[in-house]
Amino acid sequence: ALITLRQLLDDAAEHGYGVPAFNINNMEQGLAILKAADTVDAPVILQASRGARSYAGDIMLRRMVQALSEMYPAIPICLHQDHGNNEATCLSAIRHGFTSVMMDGSLEADMKTPASYDYNVAITAKVAEAAHAVGASVEGELGVLGSLETGEAAAEDGSGAEGKLDHDQLLTDPDQAVDFVMRTKCDALAIACGTSHGAYKFTRQPDGDILAMNVIEAIHHTLPNTHLVMHGSSSVPQPLQDLINANGGEMPQTWGVPVEEIERGIRHGVRKVNIDTDCRMAMTGQFRRVAQENPKEFDPRKFLIPAMAELEALCRDRFERFGTVGNA
Ligand code: G3H
Ligand code: 13P
Ligand code: NA
Ligand code: ZN
Repeated sequence: ALITLRQLLDDAAEHGYGVPAFNINNMEQGLAILKAADTVDAPVILQASRGARSYAGDIMLRRMVQALSEMYPAIPICLHQDHGNNEATCLSAIRHGFTSVMMDGSLEADMKTPASYDYNVAITAKVAEAAHAVGASVEGELGVLGSLETGEAAAEDGSGAEGKLDHDQLLTDPDQAVDFVMRTKCDALAIACGTSHGAYKFTRQPDGDILAMNVIEAIHHTLPNTHLVMHGSSSVPQPLQDLINANGGEMPQTWGVPVEEIERGIRHGVRKVNIDTDCRMAMTGQFRRVAQENPKEFDPRKFLIPAMAELEALCRDRFERFGTVGNA
């Protein structure tokens, strides 16, 4: 059944687990994610970006998630708008059956320019009031996703946003977080701890200087009852980098967020863990392998079946590591 983010994360908090939020654009991703969830009896968050909504179409996305829910009736599914950029995006998502929306007011509506605190509070509170009136949940974001190595804020597409910021401007301030949640009444709070979107997060294995997990512990201390969200949580697994590069890919060596750091976050209030890049790499690794190993192949299913299997294995691993298993 479709449920709200609030319902799902309240249960996660009560039982101390985290829930991966996988980005979804098409049927094959939906089938793979739900198969993994069903195998390990885990609830799941499917999130669609604005790009996903225009790629698949709102009617297709809604009917697809309804179909997945009908195929897997025992699995609670939250359909969430990822990085809503304004009120209209969030409200149209709700009209199209989304049970939860992220109002990302940490950036201006162009999704490139870091926004003022007052703007963020005002727009998030407005969306929360409208969403709550019709029974949908809201995720807000405080702090700016970006690299503590370079001081670059990250735009939604993973490219650098305008300007360089220092550590404190990028990271979420724990005291401001208390004020933000109180004034916006958001159901979940995305925080910034040095991660960024996309594959190129870190130029070395991250340590405490460039992945500030202590920020999460501080926020959980000031806001023990708020569900925290980690964006940019792909681990960019070395085996998937190697699979892609062994089959004609040219991804420069890179590092993501180690799964054990996410597990540490989950011990300190992180309940929703956003993962897109790893899912993309899982599918693309298999596309490349099939293309390389069998250049005569042209049936898309011969590419998509192993791609779904690789994605399913990745999702299953995250459900297991985050403690989501057995909680459907
Ligand atoms: O936050 C970004 C997500 O990875 C979605 O990416 O906007 O290319 O669909 P997208
Ligand atoms: P990754 O690029 O690390 O997968 O992050 C996805 C994300 O945060 C979507 O909102
Ligand atoms: Na989101
Ligand atoms: Zn994100």
